[in-house]
Amino acid sequence: MSEEKTRDWLLSFQSHESGNTYFQKAKTICFTSGKGGVGKTSASLKFSKLLSDQGFKTLLIDCDYNLSNTAVKLGLPLDNNFFTMAITGKSFDEVLHKDGNFHLLPACNGSYELFDQSFDWAKIITDIISTHEQDYDFIILDSAAGLNKPALTLSAYCDYRFFVVTPDKSSITDSYSLIKILKNRYGVNENHLLLNKVSSKKQYCRLVKSLADTVDQFLSARLNILGGVPLKEGSVDEFDKELLNIAGSKIDISFSKMVKKFTEENIGTDVSLSASRPLFSGERIEQEVQSSI
Ligand SMILES: Nc1ncnc2c1ncn2[C@@H]1O[C@H](COP(=O)(O)OP(=O)(O)O)[C@@H](O)[C@H]1O
Ligand SMILES: [Mg+2]
Repeated sequence: MSEEKTRDWLLSFQSHESGNTYFQKAKTICFTSGKGGVGKTSASLKFSKLLSDQGFKTLLIDCDYNLSNTAVKLGLPLDNNFFTMAITGKSFDEVLHKDGNFHLLPACNGSYELFDQSFDWAKIITDIISTHEQDYDFIILDSAAGLNKPALTLSAYCDYRFFVVTPDKSSITDSYSLIKILKNRYGVNENHLLLNKVSSKKQYCRLVKSLADTVDQFLSARLNILGGVPLKEGSVDEFDKELLNIAGSKIDISFSKMVKKFTEENIGTDVSLSASRPLFSGERIEQEVQSSI
């Protein structure tokens, strides 16, 4: 799809009235990783905001059920979340934070009472999704860190899994382990990769290619490459400010490129990257790495 055609196509979504959805049923995306501190919350928040800016009705569900950060990052009060909904009987609409097409369902933040409750939180979240999937274009899950059954169930349940990986070895091996379990236990063959905190183009190409090759060769699974986000030196506040408030910043541009790539490849009518001949997996990975820089 040409630059111009893509822009027109994306702009056409902005005219759809707030309240209506473009898709009949929401597409679900789970931001996951295994490891904490890699950027899942930042990335899921930014992705949700960018999709909603383009006119897609987007619900972000914070699944970090007792260490929720999404509301904190947005500077919102912490009094409403999906457990107040479960415990006090508040309605979904009452606990939702709404900002145009962007809706957020926060989770708890250090609630001691939660330790005494035995929630099946994977079921709570899949129930929320199935009840509201006709009201949204995208439902995005911000996963908690760690490898546990509810997190795996939710990842496998979603249409897309975005693995947020940083260049350190533990992040790469944790994500590989998660991809392996998803493949062997849940039959998940396809995931997406977002490399965060990247220091150089060379580092990006090397890591993305080696992870995609390894997943391809040893697991016979596909890792679709979304792109990379540069490491922002300086204080955490500066990163958060650039992430959410500075349009045209390096961080903003890298996320915008990924949203464009994802929407074009997965929901565009004219899928620009579909090859005219089948590619060998090594060739395809090389091509994807180059087109994602
Ligand atoms: N590209 C980046 N450059 C610099 N700091 C980042 C970047 N991405 C995330 N961070 C910071 O890393 C920390 C962890 O990010 P967060 O999104 O909370 O990760 P997770 O949800 O995976 O635990 C936060 O302090 C965040 O501001
Ligand atoms: Mg988080």
